[in-house]
Amino acid sequence: MDPLKLAVFASGRGSNFLAILDAIDAGRLSAEVEVVISNNPQAGALDIARERSIPAVVINKKMFAQREAFVQSMLATLKKHEVTLVVLAGYMKKIPPEIILQYKNRVLNIHPALLPSFGGKGMYGHHVHEAVLAQGCRISGVTVHLVDEVYDRGPIVAQRCVSVEEGDTPGTLAARVLKTEHQIYAETLQLFAEGRVEVKEGKVGIKRK
Ligand code: GAR
Repeated sequence: MDPLKLAVFASGRGSNFLAILDAIDAGRLSAEVEVVISNNPQAGALDIARERSIPAVVINKKMFAQREAFVQSMLATLKKHEVTLVVLAGYMKKIPPEIILQYKNRVLNIHPALLPSFGGKGMYGHHVHEAVLAQGCRISGVTVHLVDEVYDRGPIVAQRCVSVEEGDTPGTLAARVLKTEHQIYAETLQLFAEGRVEVKEGKVGIKRK
């Protein structure tokens, strides 16, 4: 089976992106990162890409007079790099519906909680962990899901629990959750590489080896 051709979308430091690169280097993930796209010119993920000579592209709405041109630029970038799977790794913007349509069941996101709890608008980064602690949850976790038109609501591909410990702050919980993110994302991408992910009637099934 051919390696996946990934586009990684990231807005921030890019630790999930780095974990994906590490998994590729270690032979645990059959993929190549063809391009990194960010809305944020300062994103650490862009620096990581440049250090590895991976094309790093800034695309954000503000750069374009028309929304259409913004969407076309994103689509053209994905086409140019012959991307087969779009991987959101700490991307803090909504993906245009045109991209979701073109890459149906081929856009993945990682969320630092157990969806459908603690998802939706405003639920990103530390806000998620603050809300989990405010609720007194004993368990949080990680969700990898396919992206559809509704924010944080696409079909779930993988989930893993992470315990909430006595005395946790949003920072300590985030750090524990992040470790699990770094494992589960590459593992889930490998399921796609092996052609084992099926989507039927809005639900994901994983074929046995
Ligand atoms: C990760 O914890 C990711 O789950 C979260 O942003 C962080 C990015 O970290 N994403 C969301 O909250 C999306 N709703 P990273 O830049 O180090 O990968």
